[in-house]
This record gives sequence, C-alpha cells and structure tokens, in this order.
Amino acid sequence: MTQHFEIEPVTPTIGGNVVGLDLSQPLSDETFEQLHAAFLDRKALFFRDQDISLEQHKAFGRRFGDLHIHPSARPYKADGVEHPEILFLHADEKTTRTAGDTWHSDVSCDPEPPMASILRLVKIPPSGGDTLFACMYSAYDALSEPMKQYLGELTAIHDGASNYRDRAKRRDNFIEDKEYPRNGHPVVRTHPETGEKALYVNTAFTSHIDAVPKAESDAVLAFLYQHISNAAFQCRFQWTENAIAMWDNRCTLHHAMWDYYPNVRSGFRVTVQGDKPL
Ligand code: SIN
Repeated sequence: MTQHFEIEPVTPTIGGNVVGLDLSQPLSDETFEQLHAAFLDRKALFFRDQDISLEQHKAFGRRFGDLHIHPSARPYKADGVEHPEILFLHADEKTTRTAGDTWHSDVSCDPEPPMASILRLVKIPPSGGDTLFACMYSAYDALSEPMKQYLGELTAIHDGASNYRDRAKRRDNFIEDKEYPRNGHPVVRTHPETGEKALYVNTAFTSHIDAVPKAESDAVLAFLYQHISNAAFQCRFQWTENAIAMWDNRCTLHHAMWDYYPNVRSGFRVTVQGDKPL
C-alpha cells in the first residue's frame, strides 16, 4: 500500500523529519522511491514512534540493499536466535567509552564501507545523548579551489584496529592477533548516486594521508577536522523512545554525544552495505 508522508527539513543543509510513515508496514515501490529520493536530498532522515520488531527493522534496511555485518561486534542474540545484521548499542553506568562519541562515518575502514545506517533507540537518557550530523558535500563545497584540487589527488588510510581492539578489550572479546579492516580511500569521494563530491576523512578511523610526509598529513587532517566541525554544516537530532535516525555514510559524518553518563541509552542499528569509495 502506498503511504503518503511529508519531509520537514531540519536545516536548509541537512536533515529531514519524516512525518506520516509507518515503518512496521512493507513499503510499496512508490513509497520507497519517494523515501529514497528524500534520503539522497536530506542525507539524514528522522522518524518518530516506530515500535518495530528486529525483523521489520531488517526488512526496512533491505529495501536499500544488502545488510552489512559489523567486522568486530558479536552477533546480537534475542530469544536464543542470533541476528548478525543487528548491532546492539548500549551505554550505562559501567561504560568507560562509547564508540560513536567523535565525528565519524560508520566502519569507513572497510573496503566497501556501509552506505546507510538505520538506528532505533529503545532507551534514552532523561536528557542528552543527541546525535549530530554533518554534511560533507557542504564541507567540500566550502573549500577553496586550490585546496579542492590538492585534496582531490590524495588517498587516506582508514584503520579499524585502534577503535575495534579497544572495543574488544572493553567487552572481553579481545583476540591478540585478530586482524581488523584497514583500507585506503580517496580524501574526496564522489557519491555513487548523486554524483556530488564529499570530504571522506574522519577522526575515528583515518590514521593518515598516503604518500605525503607525516607532518603534512597531520597538519592537513587537523585542518580538515576543524573545517568539518563548522556548525553551518550540521543538524542535531534529539532522540525520543522508538525514534529512528537513518543517515547516508557516503556524504555525512555523525557524532553521538556521550554526555548522559551514568544514564542508560540503548538501541539497535541495521547497516546497509555500500560500495568502494571512488
Ligand atoms: C553510531 O552508529 O555511530 C552511533 C550513533 C548513535 O549512537 O547515536
């Protein structure tokens, strides 16, 4: 059945509140096409009051592509059934570090990093725990032409080890010689669907820029991280129980604020496989 919904822009640059869509229902092709167009246009979409099951969550993700399996997380288990496509996110009074509390694009260390992430939170703190999103098309567009040209020739290494080894240690899941994804990607990528250029480096995974001296790599990344954090490129999502945020990892970064310790925040993420950044 075709569902009619509206998109309320959050800022002129990024973010759209989706009003009138029930994600527990299968999406007709027409509804899916409209939602997909809104996703490409707004880069991050927000839905409220979606009390959906894990299977409905996965089915929604599959409309956008094959589901991604996280390279380091244990499969989520519910009622004795494993759900490798579900990433369970949880923070409470025992938490010493949360993975998303810095600007990043999900699993950018993979050879073909996820195109989209779809996160539903089921427990939210009394205040805080917002997620910030930043548009990397806007960040790219705001650079000077000489800087665009310089960055356009560079690739950077995205390394999962530091992030995921630490995560494994905290979860008693540490294996000394386990290898984590480490891949080079262009510093400026072209979105495979919109054709627009986006900056593609982030503080969680990018270790260095290839083929330039270390001091130059450090200085360029420091400049880019400062540039990317311009509030003009951002929107901020304040969660409610059973809200869903869905973002395009190919042209956005996000930052999950961990400002609510020792309160609980938890939810489930379904992640959609992407392709090789070009
Ligand atoms: C993430 O997927 O990086 C986590 C986002 C969040 O917890 O808001």
